[in-house]
Amino acid sequence: MKGIILAGGSGQRLHPLTCAVNKQLLPVYDKPLIYYPLSVLMLAGIREILVISSPRCLPQFQALLGDGAPLGLGISYAGQERPRGLAEAFLIGRDFIGKGACTLVLGDNIFLGAGAARQLKRAITSNAGATVFAREVSDPENYGIVELDRRGRATSLVEKPAHPRSNWAVTGLYVYDNRVTEIAAGVRPSARGELEITDVNRVYLERGCLDAVRLGQDVTWLDAGTPERLLDAGLLVQEAERREDRKVACLEEIAFRQGFIDLAAVEGRAAALADSAYGQYLTRLVAEAREDAQTSGGRAAA
Ligand code: DAU
Repeated sequence: MKGIILAGGSGQRLHPLTCAVNKQLLPVYDKPLIYYPLSVLMLAGIREILVISSPRCLPQFQALLGDGAPLGLGISYAGQERPRGLAEAFLIGRDFIGKGACTLVLGDNIFLGAGAARQLKRAITSNAGATVFAREVSDPENYGIVELDRRGRATSLVEKPAHPRSNWAVTGLYVYDNRVTEIAAGVRPSARGELEITDVNRVYLERGCLDAVRLGQDVTWLDAGTPERLLDAGLLVQEAERREDRKVACLEEIAFRQGFIDLAAVEGRAAALADSAYGQYLTRLVAEAREDAQTSGGRAAA
């Protein structure tokens, strides 16, 4: 399974914050926004990732994430000349996707709570076409909206409806089989001039192979695309980290726990970031892991 992070767009709803800086590089409490969607892919075990952004912003993402090797990932990059719509990700990413399946996550979507990666993992295994993840919202006119029948099956999909038929928003996390590139190639620009992901999903729905999964109650979902929601996201992350005394979306920790990298790699990163609370957290992680190893080694010897 390959992963695509769509991290372009004009960020107009965040101007002037995004006049010079890409939205996905803005801070959400103590790390750049893109760490959060990337962490979901990593937690689901996805290691081959394509980051799509504007050619102007790609060098900044490359400076931040490089080729992914220090995280045990393979990260590649592709440019999107103009924000022509989410479905263009599958045209830009066609070679990257190759003959396999792919998961798309929007670069401004944050999923807090371990449940999201668990649900994504399950969907990757059971996906028979496309899988979307739905969450009830109070402002359905701002999202892609899915109507669900009594058994929870999707019956209609509309992008930002003026008169929503349900409150179930389609969140920015999607699993697709290989047909997605061919389906996206057939999508035409909408009235607002974009290649809509909702149109791709509707083809799967019409073919009877779209699964709509309701996100569990333990998952907090935020689309950090407006100043209010960006601030909310930062405050939620701060609160979660304070409460748990653990970092959320700490990529090195996830890479280590997933077995993508060893402790020496975490240690190297901790040294490089030693002046920050993030780096100090990594130092603590290394010490804890060493202690755990010693304790279990001692137990084994005894
Ligand atoms: O957040 C969930 C919603 O995301 C879904 O409910 C909608 O169905 C979906 O269309 C999308 O709506 P938004 O209006 O929030 O999409 P936005 O234009 O903000 O783009 C989402 C992300 O994708 C954002 O990080 C910018 C990036 N993007 C967007 C476009 C249109 C690109 O990289 N390229 C693009 O062409």
